[in-house]
Amino acid sequence: MQNAMLECIRARRSTRDFLPRQIESEQLDALLEAAIWAPSGGNNQSWLFTAIQNQELLLRLNELVRTGFQSYIPDDDYPGKHGVIGAARREDYNFYFHAPTLIVASNKPGYENAMADCALALENIFLAAESLGLGSCYINQLHWLRDDAGVREFLFTLGIPKEHSICSSAAVGYIGKPSPAPARKENTIRVIR
Ligand SMILES: Cc1cc2nc3c(=O)[nH]c(=O)nc-3n(C[C@H](O)[C@H](O)[C@H](O)COP(=O)(O)O)c2cc1C
Repeated sequence: MQNAMLECIRARRSTRDFLPRQIESEQLDALLEAAIWAPSGGNNQSWLFTAIQNQELLLRLNELVRTGFQSYIPDDDYPGKHGVIGAARREDYNFYFHAPTLIVASNKPGYENAMADCALALENIFLAAESLGLGSCYINQLHWLRDDAGVREFLFTLGIPKEHSICSSAAVGYIGKPSPAPARKENTIRVIR
């Protein structure tokens, strides 16, 4: 089937190469509004979306992330968690791919749907970005470093409560180099009628 929404879902890609040009404030408003129209468990809406557009602050956060990964001990075998330790040592490492806007999704502590609610809201952001001609990418690093003292202190100065769980973040901006579509695996769908 074809319609504008289905096309948007198929066309969205994780962008990892952004232009430095900032997005329009109306676009940011639309993305944040899309986020809060996501469903939430029990209609909790206990999330907080913090959009960072100040490049100096973003670069400072990047330095704290780089430092945080130097003492980071992965808690499972997820390959990205291991690869990032070496990658973050590089001077040119930038965890948000130099996107001009980073939206951090956090949620209240001890709420079992915290990740699910924020992930649904982030997908709304990604699809809304695609519909506006913008690129976006799910960025997990702040979730991995959610207990890192330096990162948490800095996020606190931006208004993210210290007790909040950092669920994830979305990098957003104009697309520099488009990402190819990774093939979808077979046999991941079943229909029982
Ligand atoms: C839970 C989750 C975590 C992800 N974390 C990252 C990340 O930290 N950095 C990144 O570049 N992409 C990240 N991605 C994006 C995936 O790599 C991407 O969705 C996948 O390769 C498929 O590509 P597509 O989004 O273009 O379809 C994440 C995606 C999800 C759903």
